Amino acid sequence: MKTIQRLLAAAVGAVMLSTPAALAAGEQHHPEEHDWSWEGPFGTYDKGELQRGFLVYQQVCSACHSMNQLHIRNLGEEGGPFFSEEFPNPNDNPIVRAIAAEYIVEDGPDELGDMFERPGRPSDRFPNPFANPQQAAASNGGAIPPDFSVIIKARHSGPEYIRSLLLGYDHEAPHDVNVAPGQYYNPYFPGGLLAMPPQLQDGLVEYADGTEATTEQMAHDVVTFLTWASEPHMNVRKKMGLMVMIYLLVLAGLLYAAYRQVWSNVKH
Ligand code: HEC
Repeated sequence: MKTIQRLLAAAVGAVMLSTPAALAAGEQHHPEEHDWSWEGPFGTYDKGELQRGFLVYQQVCSACHSMNQLHIRNLGEEGGPFFSEEFPNPNDNPIVRAIAAEYIVEDGPDELGDMFERPGRPSDRFPNPFANPQQAAASNGGAIPPDFSVIIKARHSGPEYIRSLLLGYDHEAPHDVNVAPGQYYNPYFPGGLLAMPPQLQDGLVEYADGTEATTEQMAHDVVTFLTWASEPHMNVRKKMGLMVMIYLLVLAGLLYAAYRQVWSNVKH
């Protein structure tokens, strides 16, 4: 009996001693809940949000983060930010062509065997900001900015997590966390310290549609864009799902009518 009591007391003591330190140093905040336009069985991407989110990616994030599984023409595909009924083939879409032409792409070799640079085309992939991982690490204090092609799916609660991370820099580091130069404290990041400086501030970009570019708005829009990048066919898939449901309902009605017809003269 005595031993058990003593053991219990020791265990309780150990827990009480270790808890405050453990919480202060390693506590990772849960991502904040948020409402997205594309959630639920009928939710689809909002084109305005996608276009604004692309602008944030293009003007801010693409300086460090690649998106190399996406082609520029994807922007003009159905469900994408710049899809237009008039130009179902994104290679003909003037907005997509203009966006592509802003990039400088390395091509070649030409007939003399030399590599050369040319303006981008819709069929090109989004160019990488760095020539290789070593250069990426050297420019970012040793950390490599991850590729964005499927970042939303690669993180638990991806959309909420990334939104919280972008907005989560205004917490003060706990006193027992040592923030080295080139590191930033963010309680949503596992371990609390990351090499990415805060990215968003009010008015950083200017939205073409007149929406006010608050930090919150930019975080919402860029995460919506990244979600589209990870799952570009969601709109089409949900539309198809809806059509299938309608088809099945109509079919069920017809079958029932046929059943009544077939059995109408049979006495029960
Ligand atoms: C100046 C370069 C730079 C810019 C610009 C930048 N990032 Fe980063 N980002 C980094 C680096 C470096 C890391 C890796 C951090 C680490 O692992 O410590 C990172 C990591 C991330 C991560 C991954 C976190 C994880 O769980 O691994 C996300 C998400 C992210 N950035 C989002 C963004 C978004 C969205 C933008 C644009 C609004 C952006 N970043 C702009 C440098 C940058």
